[in-house]
Amino acid sequence: MALKELTVRGGTNPYPVFIGPGSLEHALPEFVAARGFSSVAVITNATLAPLYGEALADRLPNGFLIVVPDGEQYKTLDTVRAIYDQLLDAGADRSTLVIGLGGGVMGDMAGFAAASFMRGIAFVQAPTSLLAMVDASIGGKVGVDLPQGKNLVGAFKDPLAVFADTATLSTLPEIELRCGLAEVVKAGLIADPPLLDHLEQHGPDPIDTIIEQAVKVKIDVVGQDRLENGVRAHLNLGHTFGHAIEHVSGYAWKHGEGVAVGMVAAARLSERLNLCETGLADMVEQALIGVNLPVRYRGLDPVALWDAMRHDKKWRGGTVTFVLLERVGQPVIVRDMVPVLQEDVIDVLAGLREEA
Ligand SMILES: NC(=O)c1ccc[n+]([C@@H]2O[C@H](COP(=O)([O-])OP(=O)(O)OC[C@H]3O[C@@H](n4cnc5c(N)ncnc54)[C@H](O)[C@@H]3O)[C@@H](O)[C@H]2O)c1
Ligand SMILES: [Zn+2]
Repeated sequence: MALKELTVRGGTNPYPVFIGPGSLEHALPEFVAARGFSSVAVITNATLAPLYGEALADRLPNGFLIVVPDGEQYKTLDTVRAIYDQLLDAGADRSTLVIGLGGGVMGDMAGFAAASFMRGIAFVQAPTSLLAMVDASIGGKVGVDLPQGKNLVGAFKDPLAVFADTATLSTLPEIELRCGLAEVVKAGLIADPPLLDHLEQHGPDPIDTIIEQAVKVKIDVVGQDRLENGVRAHLNLGHTFGHAIEHVSGYAWKHGEGVAVGMVAAARLSERLNLCETGLADMVEQALIGVNLPVRYRGLDPVALWDAMRHDKKWRGGTVTFVLLERVGQPVIVRDMVPVLQEDVIDVLAGLREEA
């Protein structure tokens, strides 16, 4: 099947995003072979190495594999250090290409290694999770976590290209697929009402079309505002609430699940502040329920969630930033209303809480 090709602009050089099944077998090896790198490091994790990594490295000229443990807890400077060691052991130089193969964790970390190794070497994103295909692999943000917080160290590193091989989604755990769908619903809510209509009528099928639509939204947003001075913040819809749920639950809640409830909270807060018409929050709930995402949380204390939100990096100098909705496709950034918002936010959160 022919791959879909989209283009990301806004950085130094435009780059293509290829979407479709089989690109790890054909299109990516051809892309690499045509460019004459001295060697190619496929950086992936222990889950994906046997599934896709080993075969990919075998297909690349002077290809070799670097395997790190699977999990967000390994998205650290220690792991990046181990990657540098293996690059050097393999004789990597300034003409080596790094391919980040995996979910958002691998893309972020391999990208950061590529951005910093020998002051920066060439990089390709090969996302294998739905979240990485529609969100993390696009827009050039790479980095790692510190014990003090997520994504606190990083860089902007545009890849030469993104290869989203949708055939790899056949092995993605179902919960990860649903978490990716939360970001798809988010894309629909901020910029693509027809995408939500499609999800409602046909579900997430065909997945390649869904991915293409969501990627277009992300491309459009980062094309306008790569460095997040303005509209890129719209991508944080539901995230201020969602991060709080993730954090207060001790990460028992996954990111996409937290963002799902967070988008309901954002819609309810929008209604409460009369930014939008009544009914928007119900519509958001229906969209999420339709793809089996949660719209309520259990047990967590709304005040603890509020406190966690205040420690989120989106608070600057005591100012909270919420992405709210005037209607579907029309996000609005609300700032500087901390004393006003506290009661509203806690009430909205209390309304979404079920007893433990
Ligand atoms: N750079 C950005 O702009 C950006 C945007 C959003 C999220 N992120 C980052 O992305 C990360 C989350 O990404 P994620 O949700 O993909 O999590 P992840 O990378 O941890 O992947 C989730 C799980 O699915 C597995 N997996 C991935 N693809 C698979 C496949 N095809 N078959 C079988 N298993 C597969 C992974 O090994 C992992 O266990 C976070 O660290 C977040 O900070 C970055
Ligand atoms: Zn997200």
